[in-house]
Amino acid sequence: MRVLSGIQPTGPIHWGNYFGAIRQYIALQDNEQAFYFIANLHALTTVRDATKLRQYTFDIALDLLALGLDPCKATLFVQSDVPEVSELCWLLMTGAPMGLLERCHAYKDKKAKGLTADAGLFAYPVLQAADILAYDSDTVPVGEDQVQHIEVCRDLAGSFNHHFGDVFVMPKAYVLDHSARVPGIDGEKMSKSYNNTLAVFEDAKVQRKQIMRIVTDSRPMEEAKEPAGDVLYDLYALVAPEADREAMAAMYRRGGFGYGEVKKALADAAEKYWIEPRARRAELAAHPDRVREILAEGAAKARKKAAEVLNRVQKACGIRGG
Ligand code: ADP
Ligand code: TRP
Repeated sequence: MRVLSGIQPTGPIHWGNYFGAIRQYIALQDNEQAFYFIANLHALTTVRDATKLRQYTFDIALDLLALGLDPCKATLFVQSDVPEVSELCWLLMTGAPMGLLERCHAYKDKKAKGLTADAGLFAYPVLQAADILAYDSDTVPVGEDQVQHIEVCRDLAGSFNHHFGDVFVMPKAYVLDHSARVPGIDGEKMSKSYNNTLAVFEDAKVQRKQIMRIVTDSRPMEEAKEPAGDVLYDLYALVAPEADREAMAAMYRRGGFGYGEVKKALADAAEKYWIEPRARRAELAAHPDRVREILAEGAAKARKKAAEVLNRVQKACGIRGG
């Protein structure tokens, strides 16, 4: 079974990205044929700075490898290194209904705010469909927010198959565990757009300061509290070993503690949790050629598959001789 997903290089990854998506992608590499790519063509719809886009793209490769993505198990590549995908995108675009794309939330939300949208944002789901279909992917692990795009992909593949014969494998979304919804330092969902993130590869001292600044409620210390739903506890639960997590939950339920104490425990647990990936990342960053090599090997493997699929599609629709 082919599993495929893409990650946009739009800035430093945060705890939400890791626990909500990346950790789960990496877990799939052991049992499935996994293809993971860095969606730089998609990111270009929002990152309009060449130096930044190049840097973010390379940084995500470092992040994924440091977090345990194993290039011997999973294929890691950069989206634009497989130009077949852009060509497939055009072929899909020719039959993509305007109405279907007008209903897609990224475009719709921007329009609703009275902002002007580019054709790139409008066609974003078509490029995503090409990403998926180019590799005969069966399963696409994504967060809930992306399910609509997988539905669009299925619609486009279905109507293409209906028209030109069975050319595309019909993919399915595999919705990631959304109980892993990670709160930001303000208690809202952690997100780059809310400016409330804890970056995975933050300097430990800076991270400690960010944690110490988390705003807490003003209930009296002695009051017993329900741990789940409390920002500090929820973040602690992600990075603390099970026994410590249980002890912390018991302390909440007993009451008689200060949030300062919890913040310190959270900062300590976070520092320990990220210590190894941070060391691995520093080691990789010192050998950028090794990373480039991994990406080049991944792209070669991905291109081979995409070329085969594109050839099949071109023949089916009369672009190439049968
Ligand atoms: P952001 O909201 O910071 O821009 P993205 O939309 O780029 O993050 O997120 C990429 C993926 O990371 C999403 O598909 C989602 O599955 C996951 N993710 C992001 N934020 C969170 C969060 N706070 N909790 C759980 N998962 C998250
Ligand atoms: N749109 C996805 C996101 O923002 C990234 C993405 C691009 C993707 N192409 C994909 C995800 C193909 C799954 C499959 O998170």
